[in-house]
Amino acid sequence: FSSKPLLGKKVVITAGPTREAIDPVRYLSNHSSGKMGYAIAHAASLAGASVTLISGPVSLEPPANITVVNVNSALEMYSAAHENLEQCDVFIGTAAVADYRPQNTAHQKMKKDQQGDLLNLPLVENPDIIASVAKSEQRPACVIAFAAETQDLENYALRKLEKKAVDAVVANDVSRSDIGFGSERNEVLWVTKDSRQRFGPETKTQVAHFIIHSVTEMLRT
Ligand code: C5P
Repeated sequence: FSSKPLLGKKVVITAGPTREAIDPVRYLSNHSSGKMGYAIAHAASLAGASVTLISGPVSLEPPANITVVNVNSALEMYSAAHENLEQCDVFIGTAAVADYRPQNTAHQKMKKDQQGDLLNLPLVENPDIIASVAKSEQRPACVIAFAAETQDLENYALRKLEKKAVDAVVANDVSRSDIGFGSERNEVLWVTKDSRQRFGPETKTQVAHFIIHSVTEMLRT
């Protein structure tokens, strides 16, 4: 960014997976790398924003000049998100938050011989972090969610836009191996109430710049 369009703005980003503890040595999680969130954090910082990155466990170096809040579980990510809403202008949820967590976390390592051959592990739903941010009293001016879909991108994005009360949804098709999950290049569809914009296939860095550019435009109007 030649000028610094986000100078004076505070951007909060969630990234990576969450880990939901089963016992002291086991957890439920997913394969999120956190790369997209870290790339967006870097792009926002280059655009002049003061950036807070709320990150689940990933193996990435945090970009320079940003504040990183490390969390493990969805509930920790939820608290960290709400603790960082003061003066927040933009909130971007890239995290792959676990939809469910074990209802109880065992204090001691669970033993196989106490379980038999069928283990029942009741799960309870985690809160939707981005929806709660978008509906909170401290709602940032601009709240952006991600949607990984395998079909019907635009319709699911629109549904998510409404259900989560966000300003834009960045949808990507994870069924395509060339641009989907785990690939280096991504193609995204930026969906707002009254606009659609396709971008890519491009590197995550370029996609991150596109998203920060779109956010800048959105803050202007
Ligand atoms: O509903 P779904 O998980 O498909 O929505 C994805 C979007 O919602 C992402 O932006 C993700 O970070 C956010 N999300 C969240 N809290 C959850 C689940 C998803 O913030 N519990």
